[in-house]
Amino acid sequence: MIFLCSSSQVPEAHSKGFELGEHALFAVRRQGEVFVYKNRCPHRGVPLEWQPDQFLDSSASLIQCATHGALFLIENGECVAGPCEGQSLTVIKSREDAEGIWVSLHRDADGV
Ligand code: FES
Repeated sequence: MIFLCSSSQVPEAHSKGFELGEHALFAVRRQGEVFVYKNRCPHRGVPLEWQPDQFLDSSASLIQCATHGALFLIENGECVAGPCEGQSLTVIKSREDAEGIWVSLHRDADGV
């Protein structure tokens, strides 16, 4: 897996964007757990954030696309309101350990 960042860079109820090579991702922490998605709205294929590292709505309880306001569940990326309702963000496999947050970008890179 690829090292993304230290755990402290994604505090509770906050989000953070990353560029790993050609991959644009973001991470969100909710109730202690980190969720990582591709930074791509399923509606128009554009990045989601309205300002750097701002991927959440004003209540910090949903992920929001800045372009047309689609709202996504933090836990599974499902769009629950907006023009792409029923579609989902692309989940990036991740795990967290004492060193920080790790992601898997390619299936065949697992275990490296
Ligand atoms: S591009 Fe995200 S809601 Fe339209």
